[in-house]
Amino acid sequence: MRRTIGNSGIEVNAIGLGCMGLTAFYGKPVEEQDGIALIHEAMERGVDHFDTAEMYGPHTNETLLGKALKGRREKVVLATKFGIVAPAHTGSKGALDGSAENCRRAVEGSLRRLQTDYIDLYYLHRLDPETPIEETVGAMARLVEEGKIRAIGLSEVSADSLRRAAKVHPIAAVQSEYSIFTRAIEETLFPALEELNTSLVAYSPLGRGMLAGAYQNGTRPEADDWRSVSLPRFEEENLNANRALADEVISLAGQKDVSASQLALAWVLAQNERIVTIPGTTKLANLISNLGAYSVDLTGEDLERLAPLAAKVAGSRYSDFGMKLVDA
Ligand code: ATR
Repeated sequence: MRRTIGNSGIEVNAIGLGCMGLTAFYGKPVEEQDGIALIHEAMERGVDHFDTAEMYGPHTNETLLGKALKGRREKVVLATKFGIVAPAHTGSKGALDGSAENCRRAVEGSLRRLQTDYIDLYYLHRLDPETPIEETVGAMARLVEEGKIRAIGLSEVSADSLRRAAKVHPIAAVQSEYSIFTRAIEETLFPALEELNTSLVAYSPLGRGMLAGAYQNGTRPEADDWRSVSLPRFEEENLNANRALADEVISLAGQKDVSASQLALAWVLAQNERIVTIPGTTKLANLISNLGAYSVDLTGEDLERLAPLAAKVAGSRYSDFGMKLVDA
């Protein structure tokens, strides 16, 4: 399933790979050779959109992707992000920097670690309240002119910020969390995406594993996993409530003879043709299974059954600190 990213002329298969979990946030990083092998296997199966960020690690994720793409760079659409300069979950001040100066510094580092001379889709990772978005996007537009990046994206921005940004330069994509469990942007952001011909790159389409049924057996992410430490939806009481909701997804998937993760990804892609998604996985078997989502057909009745779930999800998607970084 081919889809275009906004007005950029960049085309990708609708299911890409979110690389974050390979080296950051989700417990122990994978062994380098395993991460590289997974990326190569993904490419062989048609995955051609890889998403990373300067702050994943920091730096380790881009470095891994750079090694994996050596000699294969031109076969993929490579997306990375800048603008978070301290680990967001630590709560330290000055975590965000969208200044022109930081944009310039960051892109040079990303290009070096990714072992390339261009980035296909370069995002501002989070809006910096101290820097007018016009300044940030102006700096990114200069990178387009210089051929260092092909298209501009913004992550977790509001419709207003997107509209302001688009006056400076076309915005090819907004990246936001979007899934059966997380749908607030349908009302707030979707009209602006339509208006401005901007794509949505939907991250955490599997609810960080919950919608794939990964935590149904009473398990939680490991103690060294950021989800256990910081994400309200994974706190024991909330997780219990959310497992009951995931059961409904699993039950519908069973009736359709597909897996829960396939149903969850098919749901995201069925909402709108301007959506592509970047599920994360560290395992080839899960990656292969997830690509099976392309052949799942959802009926109106299926969509109706899933519609009430988002409103019932227990816990916000980030901690209070993380929510403050989101421009809503
Ligand atoms: P993110 O965008 O943050 O990576 P996501 O795509 O919603 O979040 O979910 C990623 C999580 O789902 C990962 O923890 C991944 O675990 P593995 O690395 O063990 O695969 C899990 N996940 C992905 N596909 C899965 C599948 N088919 N079955 C079970 N868990 C899956």
